[in-house]
Amino acid sequence: MKTLLIAYHSQSGASAQMARAAWRGAATERGLEVVVRRAWDAGVEDLKRACGLLLVAAENSGALSGGMKDFLDRAFYPAIAHELVLPYALLLSAGNDGRGASAQAQRIMSGIPFPLATEPVILRGEVSDDHLRASEELGAAFAAGLVMGVF
Ligand SMILES: Cc1cc2nc3c(=O)[nH]c(=O)nc-3n(C[C@H](O)[C@H](O)[C@H](O)COP(=O)(O)O)c2cc1C
Repeated sequence: MKTLLIAYHSQSGASAQMARAAWRGAATERGLEVVVRRAWDAGVEDLKRACGLLLVAAENSGALSGGMKDFLDRAFYPAIAHELVLPYALLLSAGNDGRGASAQAQRIMSGIPFPLATEPVILRGEVSDDHLRASEELGAAFAAGLVMGVF
């Protein structure tokens, strides 16, 4: 069965809530296993088992949050060595911007190279019902695309 890996990093809980909502959306898709990992715990072995990757993290100081950056730094060369090419999606929490984190994540991923499957979703401000709905929709849409093999 295909597997979607959702890797998240969250300091104050915003991205964690969004990751949970994305998981709820993705889990509605039959024929796909959804694995959720904290970025600190995720590694290339998780990527090897996956057919798609959803990264959920915050923007910190104009950049991708440190925990997510750590995961991508650890996985970068092993993913290249295993010639992994996974479509990925980005779900970002930010106070009022998020563009720096989005650009940095895309720069890193393009070096592996993993293709961006869908437009990055940046959710600004405190987590709201709208944010959770958007996260759920992204999870569902990405999962559906993976099952259909469109990415
Ligand atoms: C150290 C720190 C730096 C931050 N820097 C930014 C920033 O550069 N741009 C921005 O839009 N938000 C910034 N924020 C706000 C966070 O992105 C926002 O609170 C987010 O929802 C936190 O998500 P988390 O709880 O999953 O870590 C920063 C927050 C912290 C704690």
